[in-house]
Amino acid sequence: MNKERYIKKLETIKATGNYRTLREIEQNGFLIHAQGREMLNLSSNDYLGLSTNPQLAESFRSETDIMALGYSAASSRLLSGNHQYYKMLEDDLADWYDKEGALVFNSGYHANIGILPALTGKRDLVVADKLVHASIIDGLRLSDAQMLRYRHLDYEHLRSILTQHREEYEQVFIVTESVFSMDGDVADLQQLCELKKEFDAFLYVDEAHAIGVRGTNGLGCCEEQACTEDIDFIVGTFGKAFASMGAFVVCEEIFREYLVNTQRSLIFTTALPPVNVAWTRFILNKMPDFYDLRIKLARVSERLREVLTDKGFETRGSSHIVPMVCGANENSVEVADLLQDNGFFALPVRYPTVPKNEARIRFSLNASIPLEDYECLFDFLLNGME
Ligand SMILES: Cc1ncc(COP(=O)(O)O)c(C=O)c1O
Repeated sequence: MNKERYIKKLETIKATGNYRTLREIEQNGFLIHAQGREMLNLSSNDYLGLSTNPQLAESFRSETDIMALGYSAASSRLLSGNHQYYKMLEDDLADWYDKEGALVFNSGYHANIGILPALTGKRDLVVADKLVHASIIDGLRLSDAQMLRYRHLDYEHLRSILTQHREEYEQVFIVTESVFSMDGDVADLQQLCELKKEFDAFLYVDEAHAIGVRGTNGLGCCEEQACTEDIDFIVGTFGKAFASMGAFVVCEEIFREYLVNTQRSLIFTTALPPVNVAWTRFILNKMPDFYDLRIKLARVSERLREVLTDKGFETRGSSHIVPMVCGANENSVEVADLLQDNGFFALPVRYPTVPKNEARIRFSLNASIPLEDYECLFDFLLNGME
């Protein structure tokens, strides 16, 4: 047994400014307590602030027999873990999206590492945006399909790949996120729908950061851009704006049936606790009520981008994920420390997670934070950063 390799690798990770630790934190609504300080939490994916909303929790408790549901499914969905709430949730999802079928998974990671490997084989091609999430990349590593990447949001590049390669493959899947997790920018789903029709391809859209936040009813960018019908696989996660855990795909029934029979990350894992599935369904059916929160989130995000631009920082995107580009890894760590010293819990995202010299602070905003607190942040960014 030789531990030298692991020790060396950890040393390299430290030397390149990429060492990670698990912080000890305590959360109190939109506040976070860490390193002996109380800070505004600007790093959570609880975009609507639902996870600590006491009225919602109380309302769920009053209408649900939590003890009867139980805290463990104790089995895979394919064995005895398929609690009746799964069917209720999947029926509701299919109705909301007006699709034939919906299938719920344990997490977005499970969905993305499982769906594409199940659906694709040696004679197929997957063409993915250069910035798709690690879970999609891991899924493609598990797939036998050939993978090509198009430059981020560059649909001319995608078109040229499809023009060149479509005929060589049996099935082609175009894969994108809708709101991108690091740049906060948004895919043009209408254009992707046109391309998928023109080249007879499937379109797979991961709405992890858009569901709950975009669209009149919170169904995501597919609702906002009016193209739900044309997207073959819409994936959403429940661990972010839904304040829960799990994920889903909505698609045609034939594909649902196929995934139930072939998707390893669905078959070979214990099902979510029934209480969790019931809570997700409770939140789903309340989603239209959070319209005002979605509007507030969009306005505050826009204001933050203005403040950063006024102060000379590069920022990107058009969503509630607002990057503040700082350059080298070390700069982003310094800026994050300064923000945290002043009560703002925002974290650096460094190379290699993002391209070299594009290390950044990733502000991930939350609609439950009062406007006065956001004003303090804006004031600090404008006047307190010298
Ligand atoms: C685009 C995207 N898809 C999937 C996931 C994974 O979702 P989950 O946290 O439910 O595993 C993430 C997580 O951040 C993500 O950003």
